Amino acid sequence: MKQKATNITWHEGNIKKTDRERLNGQRGVCLWFTGLSGSGKSVIANQVQNLLFEKGHRTYVLDGDNIRFGLNKDLGFSPQDRTENIRRIGEVAKLFVDAGMVTGTAFISPYREDRDTVRQLMPEGDFLEVYVKCDLEVCEQRDPKGLYKKARAGEIPNFTGISAPYEAPENPELVVDTSVQDDITKNAQIVIDFLEEKGYLEAPEAAE
Ligand code: ADX
Repeated sequence: MKQKATNITWHEGNIKKTDRERLNGQRGVCLWFTGLSGSGKSVIANQVQNLLFEKGHRTYVLDGDNIRFGLNKDLGFSPQDRTENIRRIGEVAKLFVDAGMVTGTAFISPYREDRDTVRQLMPEGDFLEVYVKCDLEVCEQRDPKGLYKKARAGEIPNFTGISAPYEAPENPELVVDTSVQDDITKNAQIVIDFLEEKGYLEAPEAAE
């Protein structure tokens, strides 16, 4: 997006991301959950948050439906609005990551290009794409909000999977397939194990 304001200057603070990470005893990281509506993004993101919180980690979840009640209440589901939705959340997630939080985002984020744009916003390794994979038929059977039924009846235009596209990630850091295993805690644990293995749940080494 083009820079509109002029005569503005970036102010660098004294306290760096790594300082906050050391204080927090963890790395700031974005877990970008993407998948169809009903795939389980929000429940897994929230369960990851619960389990990490219990272990004393600092976490926050930005959730699609919730954010659309506030920050993004001016946006609908046209391709342009979805792109803007993801752009704003990407910027917000970047701030949370810089603040040293384990940040979960749960948005359908159907366009590969939009997700890649968010990835580019952050330093390498700070953006982890988690593909919450689930067959459309299974999501449609679950239909937790009754939206697929409405979409099939033609009552919701541009509904992802029915009348709007979903572009699955090509190289996600992690895939959680909820049509194979639907146990929320086990699925959340897959994500936590990955974070642990890669050292995200420890403070970074002190600078030289
Ligand atoms: S995104 O495509 O822009 O990333 P987002 O995750 O914010 O979508 O919002 C998706 C949620 O909005 C769905 O889980 C569902 O509850 C609701 N919703 C309402 N209308 C639509 C629609 N046309 N397509 C998809 N989800 C919709």
